[in-house]
Amino acid sequence: MFKIIEKEFLAPTVARFVIEAPFIAPKRKPGNFVMLRVGKTGERIPITLVDSDVTKGTITLIVQGIGKTTKELLTKSAGDFLSDVVGPLGNPTPILEKKTVACIGGGVGTAELFPITKALNDAGCRVYSIIGGRSKELVILENEMKRSSHTAVVTTDDGSYGRKGIVTEPLKEWLDAKTGIEAVYAIGPLPMMRAVSNLTKNYGVKTYVSLNAIMVDGTGMCGGCRVTVAGKMKFACVDGPEFDGHDVDFDEMILRNRSYAAGEKTVLDRFEHAPGECRLEKMV
Ligand SMILES: Cc1cc2nc3c(=O)[nH]c(=O)nc-3n(C[C@H](O)[C@H](O)[C@H](O)COP(=O)(O)OP(=O)(O)OC[C@H]3O[C@@H](n4cnc5c(N)ncnc54)[C@H](O)[C@@H]3O)c2cc1C
Ligand code: FES
Repeated sequence: MFKIIEKEFLAPTVARFVIEAPFIAPKRKPGNFVMLRVGKTGERIPITLVDSDVTKGTITLIVQGIGKTTKELLTKSAGDFLSDVVGPLGNPTPILEKKTVACIGGGVGTAELFPITKALNDAGCRVYSIIGGRSKELVILENEMKRSSHTAVVTTDDGSYGRKGIVTEPLKEWLDAKTGIEAVYAIGPLPMMRAVSNLTKNYGVKTYVSLNAIMVDGTGMCGGCRVTVAGKMKFACVDGPEFDGHDVDFDEMILRNRSYAAGEKTVLDRFEHAPGECRLEKMV
């Protein structure tokens, strides 16, 4: 059992959790994730390790409530326990040193991007960041990202905060202005990562994307997270989660991620309207 030490809402649907996990904390590297279960009959979900405190033996996770499991997690408070947290999993992100790079986060992807941005800044990189959200309340970690960046801009789709528009617009301006950006790190919804990759391909700029494939075990055994990269089958959990965005078959991945949409909706409806009566949970 893993005790929640702190919980704080960063946005109406996004919360930061500090969790006691003394065996995971010392091994965390930027890009790693954990597989967790909220309760012993629940499903496993992958969540990025945003931070860790080796002295206190804690890890930090930031979670957006979008479906049954993440919404259930958001109902937990400091003092509650999670039944399983396994990690660190996945390969650490390649961190360039003393280069000019761009870090692009969309929605909760900014939480996944923040440890990478911090590591790049600590490695002497000049970091240009874009923090994107659909609207003002979905912009997270703005101050933290700004502290780790040479230049940072916020964009919202609806213009309710920062610059109105999508993340590729400032990125294109920076690429055209010859800022010397040598690599781009992009984490967010699949269509966003596809748009960033399509843009940077024209400029020949290496682009790392973190693939939020559907994961079941997170250790390379089930094949649930398979993706096509440069025409070859890869498992996002053990071969990634980061890949060269120019090589990813995003169209296939978007289709695969929708495979369980009907089941996910049914489970969420049951959770929201008849908690405790979820038949899928009882079958596990
Ligand atoms: C490596 C990795 C790191 C991630 N880090 C974070 C993070 O730091 N914070 C965060 O809020 N979210 C993160 N996610 C996404 C998170 O795992 C999903 O939002 C969560 O699993 C959704 O589960 P649900 O039951 O709440 O929603 P559901 O209704 O089950 O699913 C909603 C959508 O989430 C995706 N999804 C569903 N189940 C899984 C699964 N087992 N694995 C991956 N995606 C799934 C699908 O696209 C689905 O359509 C990460 C995903 C991956 C692969
Ligand atoms: S999650 Fe099972 S193989 Fe990657």
